[in-house]
Amino acid sequence: MRGASRLSTEIERLTWGHADLAYPADMLLGVLRNQAHTTRVPMVATVSPAPAQPDADAVRGVVQVNLDRAGNTHLAAVSVSVDPAYRRQGIGSALLVAAEEAAAERGRTTVILDSAHNREVSADDPRALVPPTGSGRISPDDPAAIFALSHGYTLEQGERYSILHLPLEDPELVDRLHAEAAAAAGDAYRILTWTDRCPDELVDQYAALATRMSTAIPVAGLDVVEDPWDAARVRDHERTLAETGRGYVLCAAEHVATGELVAYTEIVVAVDYPEMTFQDDTLVLTGHRGHRLGMLLKTANLNSLLRLRPGTRRIHTWNAEENEHMLAINVALGFRPTGVVGLWQKKLD
Ligand SMILES: CC(C)(COP(=O)(O)OP(=O)(O)OC[C@H]1O[C@@H](n2cnc3c(N)ncnc32)[C@H](O)[C@@H]1OP(=O)(O)O)[C@@H](O)C(=O)NCCC(=O)NCCS
Repeated sequence: MRGASRLSTEIERLTWGHADLAYPADMLLGVLRNQAHTTRVPMVATVSPAPAQPDADAVRGVVQVNLDRAGNTHLAAVSVSVDPAYRRQGIGSALLVAAEEAAAERGRTTVILDSAHNREVSADDPRALVPPTGSGRISPDDPAAIFALSHGYTLEQGERYSILHLPLEDPELVDRLHAEAAAAAGDAYRILTWTDRCPDELVDQYAALATRMSTAIPVAGLDVVEDPWDAARVRDHERTLAETGRGYVLCAAEHVATGELVAYTEIVVAVDYPEMTFQDDTLVLTGHRGHRLGMLLKTANLNSLLRLRPGTRRIHTWNAEENEHMLAINVALGFRPTGVVGLWQKKLD
């Protein structure tokens, strides 16, 4: 775990200039300990012969294989990375083959691989690799792209990685956007907010929204089906966050006439890292779109976050490049594009 953490810290720094996205070893371990809803098969490549005692410095590459146990039981999500000083020696390929074998042994037939790129190729570049969605361009000369293609993967989707740097230049922006959204939403909706633990009386509704979230986001040509959540899974997720030094700040919209939760947005925080946070799910149910609930909740949640954690300096988020409405809200809030994540898919024989 220490070796994997050291390596991912180094690679994140090289790619993005910061290590916010790297997991400390204890966080990696805490996530691995809870496999109630996702089977996780971590593997590292070490020097050979492997040292008698585990040694963080002997780790040359790492692969994570995540296997959902509820909805997407045909799928394996794989992330592979290799120490920059030891690339082009076949380590990445060996790890990927091992990951595919682990997936196949557990009955998985589709692998989704991700790759991170700190710039999007110019729209004028005729050689750019573009997913069938038409959004999110990757250089054909990028090592990860060549690697994924050479292993039989197809680029299916590009996600935009954006960061909101705080404090905002315009300190009134969030309140202004919130007031505009509140005027559009009218009094048909009430905002509820909670942190770290969903109130018992709302947990079934929250689980239902999380289930809808799994297919409400654009999934392009990725072979993804609904991922069912129930109250037990919500509690399990909250427990894992707590056990790994994390929590969340959430705003939901209740439709006053029916008492139904119809929208939510959620930011994940790490207790020991007060400067950084992650904008996670945002969903407005279909029948309630067009009332500016997305902006209403995001601005409300941002204000909640800043009240609780005034030292926040960066919010990281990822959105499908073709998710125009969500991106428009984020851009209006000041999120700036930082890079592209490629999602590659392969069907196992
Ligand atoms: C992508 C990555 C995992 C490859 O690891 P690696 O150990 O260097 O990979 P391998 O040595 O097994 O390379 C396999 C093939 O990928 C291609 N490839 C990998 N790196 C390449 C590069 N810099 N230039 C051109 N081709 C490259 C080649 O086809 C190579 O075969 P070859 O060496 O026989 O020509 C590594 O560069 C990395 O960790 N990048 C950062 C994390 C990342 O982007 N992961 C996502 C991968 S989809």
